[in-house]
Amino acid sequence: MTSDEAILSTMGLSKHFSGVKAITNLDVNVKRGRIHGLIGPNGAGKSTFFNLVSGLLPPTEGQIYLDSVNTTNLPAQAVARMGLARSFQAAMMMPDTVLENVMAGMYYYSGIDPIGTFLRRPRVFCAQEREIRQKAQEALDFVGMADSAHRWAGELVWVERQLVQIARALVLDPKLLLLDEPTSGMGLKETEELKGIIRHIRDTGVTIVLVSHDVSLVVDLCDWVTVINFGEKISEGSPKHIQSDPKVLEAYLGEEEQHA
Ligand SMILES: Nc1ncnc2c1ncn2[C@@H]1O[C@H](COP(=O)(O)OP(=O)(O)O)[C@@H](O)[C@H]1O
Ligand SMILES: [Mg+2]
Repeated sequence: MTSDEAILSTMGLSKHFSGVKAITNLDVNVKRGRIHGLIGPNGAGKSTFFNLVSGLLPPTEGQIYLDSVNTTNLPAQAVARMGLARSFQAAMMMPDTVLENVMAGMYYYSGIDPIGTFLRRPRVFCAQEREIRQKAQEALDFVGMADSAHRWAGELVWVERQLVQIARALVLDPKLLLLDEPTSGMGLKETEELKGIIRHIRDTGVTIVLVSHDVSLVVDLCDWVTVINFGEKISEGSPKHIQSDPKVLEAYLGEEEQHA
């Protein structure tokens, strides 16, 4: 059973890669309108969770519901058409302009075939193209990258790539946005700017799941946090609650010791 309030629910979700248990028996409920944090040390299974719920990987076991619709084995394009958009930890860009990169998100995930439409119905192509261009420009504006629309994507620095990825997700008008380590590689000032953008996206009515291993970022931004380690949920609750949970402190202390 899924809760009406939950925009995303997973039940008993597992993903095993031969010997590796990346996700095990994970129940997550993301309530509508929230910024929901998903945290855990490196290798905890955070990106795998995103790959499962966005339809890029099939689960080994368990169920996924998006807005109470069972999307467990739907392909990524179908899940995107239902309103789920995401960014990737490694922000890949096509060798083209920034604007074309943002437009590509729309073409790929909406299933629009620009070449076929151009050949069969050139007028429809032109109208569609104009609308997509406009939306892409608006999305770039939203993330503060409007002036970079005609720059070559290959010249972007890391922070700009993250912002372009977010714009590429926003052109789809998602109801749920998954952000995978969006502040990695950012300094304090850029992180603060991005926090503002993430809050602004939430204020437009989009629910957000934010993956990060930066606890302070998550505590500052999120309404609710799920903590995983070795693919299993170890804690859940308000940022205040998880900050003082001994199981969470132990998981992160273990990570620091590994890196020491
Ligand atoms: N495609 C894959 N094939 C094999 N193992 C994988 C694959 N993707 C992830 N893993 C493994 O699953 C575990 C979780 O990885 P990941 O989800 O990337 O963690 P996180 O994003 O929390 O750092 C790791 O042990 C990782 O090596
Ligand atoms: Mg990851």
